[in-house]
Parts: sequence; C-alpha cells; structure tokens
Amino acid sequence: MTSTNKPIVILGGGGKTGGRLAERLEKLGRNYRLASRSTTPAFDWENAGAWGEAIDGAGALYVTYYPDIGLPGGAEAVGELARLAASKGIQRVVLLSGRGEEAAQRGEANVQAAVQDWTILRASWFNQNFSESFLLDGVMTGELALPAGEIPEPFVDAEDIADVAVAVLTQPGHERQVYELTGPESLRFVEVADILSDHLKRNIRFVPVPLEPFLAELASMPLPDYVVPLMRMLFADVLDGRNAVVQDGVARVLGRAPRSFQEYVARTAETGVWDTGA
Ligand SMILES: NC(=O)c1ccc[n+]([C@@H]2O[C@H](COP(=O)([O-])OP(=O)(O)OC[C@H]3O[C@@H](n4cnc5c(N)ncnc54)[C@H](OP(=O)(O)O)[C@@H]3O)[C@@H](O)[C@H]2O)c1
Repeated sequence: MTSTNKPIVILGGGGKTGGRLAERLEKLGRNYRLASRSTTPAFDWENAGAWGEAIDGAGALYVTYYPDIGLPGGAEAVGELARLAASKGIQRVVLLSGRGEEAAQRGEANVQAAVQDWTILRASWFNQNFSESFLLDGVMTGELALPAGEIPEPFVDAEDIADVAVAVLTQPGHERQVYELTGPESLRFVEVADILSDHLKRNIRFVPVPLEPFLAELASMPLPDYVVPLMRMLFADVLDGRNAVVQDGVARVLGRAPRSFQEYVARTAETGVWDTGA
C-alpha cells in the first residue's frame, strides 16, 4: 500500500496496463505520475543515467518493462531500477511480469532482493494483444496465421490487471505477494478465432504455421530487432503448455472472477477498433 501522498510513478504509463492504471488513479483522486520516453522528465529503459530524475519523490513504482521483461536485459534492468529506487528510499515496487518465463522470474527475484515491499503481478497473455498489439493485424485481415497449434492460453484482460494494480497499490496486505493473473478459462487460438468471428459477424480463421518460416518471414520485414526473439520466446517457450492452467490471482486480490474473453470481445467491438469499413 502507498499511504503517503507521494506520487505513484507508472513506468510505461501510456501502455496497455499503465494507461488503465492511470485512469483509475485519476478517478480515485490519487497522486500519480507517468514515466516513459515521452514524459517530462523522460524515462527511457535505454538510458539508465536519467532514471533517477523520473522516479525522484515517488511513494511507489508500477513497473512495466519495454518491450518484454523476458527478453535479454529485461531482468537486469528492472533489478537495477529497483536498487536505484531503494537507494532513494522508495521501497514499494509493483512489477508486471510474465508467466513461465525464466528470464522474467529472474527479474522478479532481482526486484524482490532490492526492495522490501514488492508485489509481483505475473500475467498470462493479454486479451488486448488482439486489439492494441501484435495480433490486431490478424483480426483485421481475417487470418491469425500463428505458430500456436492446439495449446490453450488463459488470456487475461488488461482491465483486470489494472484493477489488481490499483488494489495492491492503494490497499494494505499485498506486500511480498506474487499474484498469477489469468482469465477465467484457457482458450485455443482456434476458439479465439471462433469467438471473434461469431461476434464480429465475419470470418476470422486461425491458421497454424510452422515456427521457423514464421520467424524467417518476420526477419525479412522492416521491424525492430527485438521482434523475432520476442516471437520465438512467446511461441516456442511461453506457449508450450506450461501456462495453460487457470490461476486465481484476480479473485485473490479483487474477490471476484476475472473478465471473460467473450466480454472483452463485446466491449472492444463497441470501440470500433475492429471495424473494416466493409
Ligand atoms: N502483452 C502480453 O500479453 C503480456 C503478458 C504478460 C506480461 N507482459 C509484460 O507486460 C510488460 C508491458 O506492459 P504493458 O503491455 O502494459 O506496456 P506496453 O503497452 O507494452 O507499454 C507501452 C509503453 O512503453 C513505453 N515505452 C516504449 N519504449 C520505451 C522505452 N525504451 N523506455 C521507457 N518506456 C518505453 C511507451 O511510451 P513512450 O512511447 O512514451 O516511451 C508506452 O507508453 C512487458 O514487460 C511484458 O513482458 C505482457
């Protein structure tokens, strides 16, 4: 809990979870500050020398690493940030992490070693990957061509992650806890495509493709360097079945069930993000 009126600094404050957390803190009238490359002061994971200014005076940090805590350098960076926070007297750090990623769990350990009042939010794949991230294109073209196979994933809603983040940052009792945040059921990509098709009244197909040609095609595109290693990690490691089981982290914190994928699709369709103009 952050009991002082010092700001909660949200790293990645314009992002999928940070933006939603900020909206909630605004409504609650809580003191918060965003920190990313576009804020003043700026926070850039690539420029450790300037991190201090961005977190100065914070009562707590909500930490989202970019692009992914499981990529090389992520675990070390969040650890270095947490040690810097502790040196400034900031002991409350809430870290957004990923399930079943060895490197992400090293990042968690680094944060746990650095500050007293850590909370780890270990999330499964976000629903919002289909509307605000790398799976949006597939929904728009009607073809989710992915090296995903039959492995189910208990997609979690970023709205639930934000609800949990608010609770752990503003209410007591969540210090030194690890919460595994998943949705209420595990879905295969073919089921996800069916739910999207039914709701959007157009055909969205899941097409399983082999991993290496998928990665080779990505490598031939003008994309940031992290994309191919990130996709390899997500589809070869994270989606190998180790994370298929539903967990109760949302209910443990909020006392209610997580939002369903169907509810996410209905709510998100209303925003027009999936409209094709057809
Ligand atoms: N997506 C998933 O399914 C999933 C699942 C489990 C865990 N996670 C974890 O969630 C974390 C990401 O959280 P999120 O999805 O809420 O955030 P996000 O949407 O990926 O964050 C985007 C934000 O990061 C900022 N940003 C980009 N590059 C930056 C840099 N070099 N330095 C500082 N800020 C930078 C951007 O703002 P500016 O442009 O202003 O810098 C933007 O506000 C990752 O660590 C990932 O491992 C994701």
